[in-house]
Amino acid sequence: MIRSVVRGIGASLPRRIMKNADFEGMVETSDEWIAQRTGIRQRHIAADDETTASLGEAAARAALANAGLTPADIDLIVLATSTPNNTFPATSVEIQNRLGMRHGFAFDMQAVCSGFVYAVTTADLYIRGGLAKRVLVIGSETFSRILDWSDRSTCVLFGDGAGAIVLEAAEGAGSITDRGVIAASLRSDGEHKDKLFVDGGPSTTGTIGHLRMEGREVFKHAVGMITDVIEAVFSQAGVTAQDIDWFVPHQANKRIIDASAKKLGIADEKVVVTVNLHGNTSAASVPLALSAAVADGRIKRGDLVLLEAMGGGFTWGAVLVRW
Ligand code: UT7
Repeated sequence: MIRSVVRGIGASLPRRIMKNADFEGMVETSDEWIAQRTGIRQRHIAADDETTASLGEAAARAALANAGLTPADIDLIVLATSTPNNTFPATSVEIQNRLGMRHGFAFDMQAVCSGFVYAVTTADLYIRGGLAKRVLVIGSETFSRILDWSDRSTCVLFGDGAGAIVLEAAEGAGSITDRGVIAASLRSDGEHKDKLFVDGGPSTTGTIGHLRMEGREVFKHAVGMITDVIEAVFSQAGVTAQDIDWFVPHQANKRIIDASAKKLGIADEKVVVTVNLHGNTSAASVPLALSAAVADGRIKRGDLVLLEAMGGGFTWGAVLVRW
């Protein structure tokens, strides 16, 4: 059977780093509160010339270089983002143009923080369905542009950045030992729309709007939702927590990550954490964490890697990949 194998990975972060202490004086908060409640110590914030398209392009170029490929080798670009450069056209098409691609196709996916997990699952189906051989899957966000910088309960939590992988069609035996995407589970439930949303949009206010979140409510649902989809993926693949080499969760809050790993029985040393460095970068958080763990040599070829995300909608999902 055909498998979607990860051939390369890359990342891109804005130049400017904003530390927790930089918020003191802007809103009533402290480095201590932010670090204790979330694990975040700093985040990157995009300058005017850094956009979802430019960060996504840089991550895509890094992933292509890591794969030893060029844009000519790519058939499809799937960009996960909730902060596109424009309402339309799709930012993925802008990235396609920036890469000099006059062939293939590109589209955006919007599942907020779950965007990358949704995009990997979608790209895998395009590959297995024979519509594409090599897909650039990108998560790129500039959440700093939709934050209410006077709201301390949200503005300290998010950051900007991009990560990308190249998925490539390869022959597999159909077993758990195959490299590539092994199993996936996606969920959404619009009942929770008002717990995490942006209060504007083209068809309602005609404005971009600002992010609004009932953090405590999101937190309450997060661990149960995350562990449910992971258990679905474990049962599809016939594996247990002990078989996982690396757990790469969505980086929203260290306490959610710890509670999820504990509930699943995944050992602390297998958990990749970058929320301290990047904050919550929404659809970019999982590929940024993956990229860090590949770059420092933790994730190696043949490792079984579990990805997970949960966010606005609510949307949530998990993907199991043999690296
Ligand atoms: O990526 C999408 C998914 N999103 C998430 O997973 C986020 C989930 N939620 C969270 O991570 C946490 O709920 C937060 C980090 C947002 C908040 O932590 P919490 O432990 O749930 O705190 P809380 O909302 O219950 O607030 C506790 C107190 C409140 O004051 P009172 O009412 O107890 O007097 C807040 O007003 O902390 C106050 N507070 C702050 N204090 C200092 C809220 N934000 C801040 C702040 N600095 N930045």
